[in-house]
Amino acid sequence: MFEPIQRVPGDAILGLIEAFNQDTNPNKVDLGVGVYRDAQGNTPVMRAVKQAEALLLDNQTTKTYIGSHGDPRYGQVIQPLIFGADSPVLEARRASVTQSPGGTGALRLAADFIHTQLPGKGIWVSDPTWPNHLGIFQAAGLKLSKYPYVDAENRLDFDGMLAAIKQIPVGDVVVLHACCHNPSGFDLSQAQWREVLEVVKERELLPLIDFAYQGFGDGLDEDAFGVRLFAENLDELLITSSCSKNFGIYSERTGALIAVAKNTEQMENVRSQMAIVARENYSNPPSHGGAVVTEILESAELAAVWREELTEMRNRINGLRQDFVAALKPYGLDAKYACIAEQRGMFSYTGLTPTQVDRLRDEFGIYMVRSGRANVAGFSTENLDYLAKAIAAVN
Ligand code: LMR
Repeated sequence: MFEPIQRVPGDAILGLIEAFNQDTNPNKVDLGVGVYRDAQGNTPVMRAVKQAEALLLDNQTTKTYIGSHGDPRYGQVIQPLIFGADSPVLEARRASVTQSPGGTGALRLAADFIHTQLPGKGIWVSDPTWPNHLGIFQAAGLKLSKYPYVDAENRLDFDGMLAAIKQIPVGDVVVLHACCHNPSGFDLSQAQWREVLEVVKERELLPLIDFAYQGFGDGLDEDAFGVRLFAENLDELLITSSCSKNFGIYSERTGALIAVAKNTEQMENVRSQMAIVARENYSNPPSHGGAVVTEILESAELAAVWREELTEMRNRINGLRQDFVAALKPYGLDAKYACIAEQRGMFSYTGLTPTQVDRLRDEFGIYMVRSGRANVAGFSTENLDYLAKAIAAVN
C-alpha cells in the first residue's frame, strides 16, 4: 500500500535548522527559523519564565485535563493583553478564548471552524504570507486566494492590497497580520488599518488577524492597534495569538484562538463550536505553557520582569536593523537595503533573490529562507561585517 508514496522535500523553514546544524563553517550564521537570539546567538529561557516555572513546580497539584478551551485563568489573562484592560469588548463579554497548541494550532482551529460552520467561504491571504498559512488552510479544505502585499521593488503595496480587498466576494474571510508581517516585516500604519477597516465593513468580510509577534514591533499595545480597532468596530472577528515568541516558550506550544462576536449569546454559540473543533483535533491543549503565561501575567512583579525582557529583545532587534544598514554603507548598499531598518519584527524581506540566498549559504554559511526572508534576530554585532561583506559579494 505504501509503495506509491513519494518522498517530499522537508518544510522550507524548519529544514533550515538541520541544514545549519550540519554546516561545519565556523563563521556560519543562522537567519532562518523565527526564533529570538541574544548577542551570543542563544535562545535563552526568559527570567520571568524561569521564575514562573519554579513556582509551578512547587505549587502544581495535578496534571489532569484542562478542558477543550484550556485553563479559564489563561483566557482571563490573555484577553486584556490582546484587547487592552479597558476594552469595551471585555466589558460587553463579546470575546472567547480557546487555548491552543501554539499559534499554528489556533490557525488550524480557525480553519476547521470556518470550514464546518461557514461553509463555502473563501479565505484570502497576503502575497507573500507565512508559507504554513497556505498549508493549514488548504489542509482544512478552504478555498484559498491571495491579495498583493509586497511589490516588485520590495515595498509594501498598500494600494494593490486595498484594491484587491475591495474585490473580495462579500462575506469571505481575509487574513491580516496584526504586526511584524511574516515574511516581509512591512506593517500597516494606523491610517492604513483604518482604510482596511472601511473596506472590510463595506464587503462584510470576516477578518482573521494572525497575531504571532505581539511586542516585537513597537510595543505590546502599539502592536495591538489593528486588532483593537477591528474588535471595537466590528461585530465579528477571529484572532489567532501566540505566546511562542513573546514569552520565548516555542516548544511549549502555547497560543489561543479568540473569537469576537456581536454579543455574549452569539459568542457562547461560537465558543461551543470551538470546543468541538479542539476536541476533534487534540482534545485538550498542552497545559504547561499556558500555566507559565498565567503565572506571569497574574503577578504584577513577574509581569514587570517579562515586559522589561520583551522590551530588551525588541530594542535589540530594532537596533540591529539600523546597524546592519550602516554596515552596508562601505559597500554602497545602504540605500538598496534601507527598508531593513524600517521593517518591524523578527523578519525582513531583504530583496535577495533565491540565487543570491543559495550563494550566501554555499559560499558563506549564511542561512535564510529562499524567498529572501532573513530573521533579523540572527544578526549580532560580531557578524554584521561578515554579513555585509557576503551580501556585497553576491550583489
Ligand atoms: C517562522 O516563520 O520561522 C516561525 O513562525 C516558525 C515556523 O513555524 O515557521
